[in-house]
Amino acid sequence: MDDISINNQPDEASGPLTHSPAHANTRKVYVKTYGCQMNVYDSQRMADSLAAEGYSTTDTADDADLVLINTCHIREKASEKLYSALGRLRKMKDVRAKEGRELTVGVAGCVAQAEGDEITRRAPVVDLVVGPQTYHRLPQALARVRQGERVVETEYAIEDKFEHLPAPGKEQTRSRGVTAFLTVQEGCDKFCTFCVVPYTRGSEVSRPVAQIVREAEKLADAGVRELTLLGQNVNAWHGEAAEGREWGLGELLYRLAEIPGIARLRYVTSHPRDMDDTLINAHRDLDMLMPYLHLPVQSGSDRILKAMNRKHTAADYLRLIERIRGARSDIALSGDFIVGFPGETDEDFEATMQVVRDVTYAAAYSFKYSPRPGTPGADMDGHVAEAVKDDRLQRLQALLSEQQYAFQRSLIGKSMDVLIEKAGRVSGQMVGRSPWLQPVIIDVHGGRIGDIINVRIIDTGTNSLIGVREMNSASNGTI
Ligand code: 5AD
Ligand code: SF4
Repeated sequence: MDDISINNQPDEASGPLTHSPAHANTRKVYVKTYGCQMNVYDSQRMADSLAAEGYSTTDTADDADLVLINTCHIREKASEKLYSALGRLRKMKDVRAKEGRELTVGVAGCVAQAEGDEITRRAPVVDLVVGPQTYHRLPQALARVRQGERVVETEYAIEDKFEHLPAPGKEQTRSRGVTAFLTVQEGCDKFCTFCVVPYTRGSEVSRPVAQIVREAEKLADAGVRELTLLGQNVNAWHGEAAEGREWGLGELLYRLAEIPGIARLRYVTSHPRDMDDTLINAHRDLDMLMPYLHLPVQSGSDRILKAMNRKHTAADYLRLIERIRGARSDIALSGDFIVGFPGETDEDFEATMQVVRDVTYAAAYSFKYSPRPGTPGADMDGHVAEAVKDDRLQRLQALLSEQQYAFQRSLIGKSMDVLIEKAGRVSGQMVGRSPWLQPVIIDVHGGRIGDIINVRIIDTGTNSLIGVREMNSASNGTI
């Protein structure tokens, strides 16, 4: 969190926070987001609910009246980083006090949930601690702060989980562009032994079908063309449809595909055990379900998978990939990997490398195991030396980069549909998004944001593609 005053882009995830319409004499909030796309979504919701209280957003802490740090607890020294950011904010608050100007500091997200009033005890600069399940109480909590109280809001009733925050208004959605996140599920009951999520985000709760459809329709009405359904364990989503039938994520996708205006669907993050037949068939039947799937395996060793409590083997995963590819041959896969889980031997690590070779990924995230206090993994024997973890991570990442590069190069000469998202830096250029999530830079005169056009790829960068509009093919999916 060294860049507390620099920008408001999330550190690990994408998706900008956008400004609410500024009006005179409003207070300003700076939201710094760490971690996953769920945090990006939550930060937007917090900014939306504060807009209703007269706050506009700003890009730096320097001109903010309220700084909210939306924290991530998943790896590494999240709380140390938080406290050093809070140290800088304390200095800023002292300077402001001399100038007679106030600064309110709030901590949100998973560290807030995990540490609660430990944060206000350790860091007197903090006025407010709010956990992910209590964001709907943020305006009231701030009102209490203004009365001079220091507030810790981390307790919640399970049925409150989707009280959450109001869906964004039309203008707010418009300002964020033609792609949007939509949370459909929160929490996790899987209890992988390395992971804090079941503790910080609590048990799995699915949002009701009607609520999701209503929000999706509102987003479509405001011009959104691509929806990404979010959940910590998104494919564990289940809900009750009108006739009282139980739905899984597959059924929900078929339903959302009917919404006029929505042209593309995605979902993230999935667990291999929740990829059921209907969901796999949705990949076969729905062209608009993008052919890109993030399906973490974490390790290729059955021994380690068992110790991680993943409840599947490497062979189960490979068979599943085969079925998914059978349903949608152009699907590209991404994954998450952990190296150096307690007890991981060279042989276990080689099994992970083998799974990577067998699957071939288009993109992937790989991490050194980081013991999280309170999780079973932290108390296991056989912690792996840091130097060994470093070495394994380097080897794994070299293989994954090679695969990513090969995937990028394989697209040269291919035609694909690209959703135009914004104007490029150079006049006449537009930036779009490929079916596989890469940004595509296109020389298109007259292309409109929100159009889906057919593009031929002529070159690639590390993550991006460079394309030209196919002249002999009509735009497709435009509105
Ligand atoms: N150490 C390292 N990586 C972890 N992840 C989750 N917990 C840990 C941990 N304790 C990784 C997993 C997960 C991704 C979001 O973060 O790979 O899928
Ligand atoms: Fe964490 Fe495992 Fe749940 Fe994913 S499935 S959030 S890794 S416990």
